[in-house]
Formats: sequence, structure tokens, C-alpha cells
Amino acid sequence: MANTAQLSIDGTTYELPVIEGTEGERAIDIRKLRAETGLVTIDSGYGNTGSCESAITFLNGEKGILHHRGYAIEDLTSHSTFLEVAYLLIYGDLPDEEQSNAFIDDVTRHTLIHENLRQVFLGFPLNAHPMAILSSMVCSLSAFYQDQGNATDSAEMDITIRRLLAKIPTIAAFAYKKSIGQPFVYPDNSLSYSANVLNTLFGVPCEQYEVDPELALALDQLLILHADHEQNCSTSTVRLVGSSRANLFAAVSAAIAALWGPLHGGANQAVLEMLNEIHESGGGAEKYIRMAKDKSSSFRLMGFGHRVYKNFDPRAKIIKKTCDRVLEKLGVDDPLLEIARKLEETALHDDYFVERKLYPNVDFYSGILYRALGIPTEMFTVMFAIGRLPGWIAQWREMINAPDARIGRPRQIYTGETARPFVPLHHRPKSQ
Ligand code: SDX
Repeated sequence: MANTAQLSIDGTTYELPVIEGTEGERAIDIRKLRAETGLVTIDSGYGNTGSCESAITFLNGEKGILHHRGYAIEDLTSHSTFLEVAYLLIYGDLPDEEQSNAFIDDVTRHTLIHENLRQVFLGFPLNAHPMAILSSMVCSLSAFYQDQGNATDSAEMDITIRRLLAKIPTIAAFAYKKSIGQPFVYPDNSLSYSANVLNTLFGVPCEQYEVDPELALALDQLLILHADHEQNCSTSTVRLVGSSRANLFAAVSAAIAALWGPLHGGANQAVLEMLNEIHESGGGAEKYIRMAKDKSSSFRLMGFGHRVYKNFDPRAKIIKKTCDRVLEKLGVDDPLLEIARKLEETALHDDYFVERKLYPNVDFYSGILYRALGIPTEMFTVMFAIGRLPGWIAQWREMINAPDARIGRPRQIYTGETARPFVPLHHRPKSQ
């Protein structure tokens, strides 16, 4: 296949290099386009534009493939743990036993937050959305760890990475406890990462909280499924903010804000709200399918569609199986699960969805599983952030260490007023 592309414009033909990745993806390299032609490209939403070369995650949207550092998501959810996948994403390989033990020990021993940070929680209103608290508190960590500004020092970078992985579940749990007026439950270092998440969310100081290992396993798998997803909106945010050399805490805080949107990570909360609305209106999916197809309606079938997957999101398939297993174990007969199944069945046989290749994505079933684990709807996107954190860190670290690392600064095409003289206030015509 050709390793150059030709661009002919204004009577001149330019040769542009074509680069190819290890999985056969190809890109026209336009890094010298403006210097050679005076033109830029434009691609709102970046559906056709690669922002970087990356060795972390590979997606094949047509075939529904998701690999992390070469390992299939199906294998990682079946045989690995969330902290091991975090290590794989960040450092490039599965850890050996010594590396694994040291990493787990480091993360376990950094779960506490500075006691002064607890005071910050008091300032938030009771009904503050936990994503607002999470984003603010993660950025506040940079005020308590001011020696973490130097991203190039690997020892400093490693302790910052461990602090973030360790403290974000604690901050999340404290935000939840504040919203229900319960005392904060401190992490228990004798528990695994996911067991600790459940312990700090649902434990109370006045009695021993027994973590159900099956539920801890289900949560660990959910976190693995959210760990990274190449250059999605929030990951592109962490790369762009990090490219200005803002510290990692600030870059992750910005990524949390991006994830909050209902078109991105906020979709899992929006799916549950949609399923609840359908349930309360009598359970008829047809009306919502019609609304989703109606161009005059802004309603979208939340949890459906994806910029990259034009086949089933492999994560949705895995979550659906875990959903069935956990709900059966808990003896939960969730009417929303039945509505979700009916919605999926109806949509997958409707031309509108079939033609646009709209399939259930990671968010479609995850909310039902979070609900079965006892996690409240407003915390769903927070759980997504806890899962996505290793991916944000890995992508930020790859960007910072890239040999051609430079500040991200897209171009534009100006479509506003051309040059015009200033008009003093008293000479301006009355606006219509
Ligand atoms: C995540 O990027 C990632 O990797 C994200 C993520 C990750 O792990 O980081 O996978 C996590 O964000 C999953 C997506 C969660 N969001 C939702 O479930 C919200 C509902 N879905 C969408 O709004 C939409 O599908 C997006 C945002 C996910 C993708 O939007 P695109 O790629 O910009 O697609 P589009 O808006 O151009 O839609 C193409 C067509 C349009 O119709 P036409 O104009 O061609 O007639 O499909 C329609 C859209 O109207 N469409 C939908 C729809 N999604 C797309 N119609 C109804 N319901 C939907 N859900």
C-alpha cells in the first residue's frame, strides 16, 4: 500500500507521508502541511483526525475490538485485577510479582487525604453533585503536594501517580458520605482496592462492614472495563491540559469535568434516569425509540451509539454478562434491566439504529450493575472516573515523555467580520 498521499491544489501537487501503526491503521501525516501549502485542515469533533501516536490502547470500532498494551479486554476482565491493569496501562507491561506487590503496597498506603482537605468538603452544599466535588478536590491535591510540579522527574511522577490512584476513591467516598450525612469511613489497608471502595462507600463506624467478595470482583471488573479508551473526550482533555505542563492533578481535574458531560461519562447516570422515566411511564420502550428517531426532538437513546464502535461495544457485552451474574446472586429482579433488554432488542431491529450502526455502549448496562452494587445514580459517573484514572495517567505520561511533546494548540478558520473602523459610543446606530 502507498506510503505517500498526493494533494493537488492551486496547480501544485504535494506529497504527504502516510504512516502506519502496528495494527495496520494508516494516517496522512499533515505535520508540515501549513508550512508547505499555507493551508490547514478542519475536522470539527476530530472524527477524522489523529491527535497522537499511542502504544496504550487499540480499538477496532468495526470489529468491536479493545486491547490494552496488546491484551484483549476479555482476557483482562477474566484474569487480571484493576490495579494490575492500571500498572499495565501506565508502565507498558504486566508487573512481575515483586513489582505487583510494591505497586499494591504503595497505592494501599497512600489512601488517606490530608486532614485539612476534609474541611474543604464542609464548604459544599449537601446537594452538590459528586463530580463537582471530585473535580475540585483532585485539583486541590496540587495545593497539598506542591513538590509534584516537576513532571519530568520519574520518582516524583511515580509518587504522584500512586497518590492519585490511592486518593481518588477516598475523595469519592467522602463526597458520597457527605451527601447522605454519614460520617466519613477511612480506608482499610487490609482490603483490596475494590473492596476498599465498597467499604468506604457503605461502611459505618459503628459496625464491621463485611465486603461481599463477589460484589468486590464485579466492581473490579467494572473498573477494568472503564480503564482506558484511546483518545476519547476526557483523555484528550488530560493530554491538552497536560501539554501546557500544568501538573497531573490539574490535568486530571479537567478530565473529570469533561467526563461529567451526558454525551460522555455522564451517560451512565442519564441511562438510569431514562430507564426510570420509561418505567414510571408504564415501561413502553416504543415511545422513547420514536423520540430518539425524531429529529425535532433533542432526546437521544442514552447508552446507545459511539464515535468509534460501529459494532457492539465489547465492554457492554461483558457488563451485560456480569449484570446477569450479580443480579442472580443477589436475587434482584430489577425491572429496569427488563426495560433495558427490551429497549436494546427493539433498537437493534430498527432501521434507524441499524443504518447508523448504533449499538449499546459501555454506559448502557453499567448503571444497572452499579445500582445492584448499591451505588446511587449520582455516583455512577464518579465510578467511571475512578475506573478511567489509570488511562488518563498513562496517556498523560506518554504525552509528557513523547520526544515531540509540545503544547497543543489547534488552528481555526476565521468566519467573522473583516477589518472595520472603531465607532465611538455616541455615533453608533441604535441596535434593532
Ligand atoms: C462514552 O469516545 C469514547 O471512547 C467514549 C467512551 C469512553 O470509554 O471514553 O466510550 C465512553 O462516552 C460512551 C458514549 C456515551 N454517550 C451516550 O451514550 C450518549 C448517547 N449517544 C450519543 O449522543 C452519540 O452516539 C455519541 C455522542 C456517543 C457519539 O456521537 P457522534 O459520534 O458525534 O455521532 P453523531 O452525533 O454524529 O450521530 C450520528 C447519527 C446522527 O443522526 P443523523 O444526523 O446521521 O441522522 O446517529 C444519531 C445522530 O442523531 N445518533 C443517535 C444516537 N447517537 C447517535 N440517535 C439517537 N440516539 C442516540 N443515542
